[in-house]
Amino acid sequence: MSFLNQVLFGVYPYICLSVLALGSILRFDREQYTWRTGSSQLLRRRQLVLGSILFHLGVLTIFAGHFVGLLTPIWVFDALGVPHGAKQILAMVAGGVAGLFCLAGGLLLLHRRLFDPRIRKTSSFGDSAILIVLILQLCLGLATIPISAHHLDGHEMLKFMTWAQGVFTFRPGIADVVADVHPIFKAHLVLGMTILLVFPFTRLVHMLSAPIWYLNRRGWQLVRTRRTLPRRPEVAAPIYPSTPRAGQRPASPQTPAE
Ligand code: HEM
Repeated sequence: MSFLNQVLFGVYPYICLSVLALGSILRFDREQYTWRTGSSQLLRRRQLVLGSILFHLGVLTIFAGHFVGLLTPIWVFDALGVPHGAKQILAMVAGGVAGLFCLAGGLLLLHRRLFDPRIRKTSSFGDSAILIVLILQLCLGLATIPISAHHLDGHEMLKFMTWAQGVFTFRPGIADVVADVHPIFKAHLVLGMTILLVFPFTRLVHMLSAPIWYLNRRGWQLVRTRRTLPRRPEVAAPIYPSTPRAGQRPASPQTPAE
């Protein structure tokens, strides 16, 4: 099998998974204040709510589908009596609908990010780039559906399951399993692994903490209201004298003269 195939599907997965694990641990350890989505809701709520709901609904369904679909051992589906063809059709239909939801949401979010001058100004290169990469990956994923329609018995899908599980079980020569699949599948796999590679350096890290912290908001959250609040009466701050020396009685705070 070709050298490039060995590198892309036999070596690259391990580079990406190692950077994903180590990079996430290091960023969490050293840069916890950058571990956030960098929300722009404060700048413009319009387009965010619909875009965000569609995008997250789609991407979470795809993520769960990919995780279960690729990493559940094949014998589990066989033991449950799920025919390979049925699993293939489920992946295409459920994944296709979720993919379209996600694409619509992603395009709304991208339009908002690129064309709202205030959001554009406050976005980093990484904020826009990762959204564009995810949209590209979605398009590649959706483009696999017509190809999968040519092998509805699920035999091609079995190759991807064997490959993904083989990577995690360090099976030698695992790249050979996907050597003859359609180039669109290969492009989707390579870009998917690249997303894992850059994951720790982007706002995507919020995926790891969102289920734990966002539900009961243990992190820092600044909330500002648009309402005009009644002015608080001015309170003069007490002046604390300097720290008493050893043996000296601490003086009580003095209020400045009116
Ligand atoms: C390492 C990461 C990824 C891998 C290994 C991967 C693998 C695959 C495979 C093998 C298929 C074809 C399933 C089949 O028909 O048998 C597929 C389809 C698809 N993928 Fe991915 N993918 C990855 C990441 C992503 C990401 C990040 C997205 C979206 C943002 C995505 C969106 C889709 C969509 C929409 C489809 C078509 C519907 C479906 O079959 O589920 N994939 N992916």
